[in-house]
Amino acid sequence: MLYSKEVMEHFSNPRNVGTMEDADGVGSVGNAKCGDIMRIYLKVEDNRIQDVKFETFGCGSAIASSSISTEMIMGKTLEEAMAVTNKDVVDALGGLPTHKIHCSVLAEEAIWAAIEDYYIRTNTPYDKEKFAK
Ligand code: FES
Ligand code: FES
Repeated sequence: MLYSKEVMEHFSNPRNVGTMEDADGVGSVGNAKCGDIMRIYLKVEDNRIQDVKFETFGCGSAIASSSISTEMIMGKTLEEAMAVTNKDVVDALGGLPTHKIHCSVLAEEAIWAAIEDYYIRTNTPYDKEKFAK
């Protein structure tokens, strides 16, 4: 079996899909390798993620990665959310085929982009070097 049951489950029944009208931070990233796009919306209160939504125009692994990563960062502080790596996402999904690892990287990048957008919108000083990829 190419895909784990977690991947299939999140692909068939993705959590937190959609947009957010009043998002505090939005991050859109594209994958140069395959052209897929992922967008993450965050609602932030007192440095904590109160709500997350995602839209992913891409493959099943990208959809499963976005779905599980929204669950992983829900309720977390921004720092805790930034500590979630693509490896954590892959592990939580019970693994991804090697050529699909880049799909999970997209999730990590989209989360970081949404957090940076939040920092910019709220004039919060942050370590720009850390965000420069
Ligand atoms: Fe075809 Fe991503 S490359 S769905
Ligand atoms: Fe491109 Fe999955 S194949 S994100």
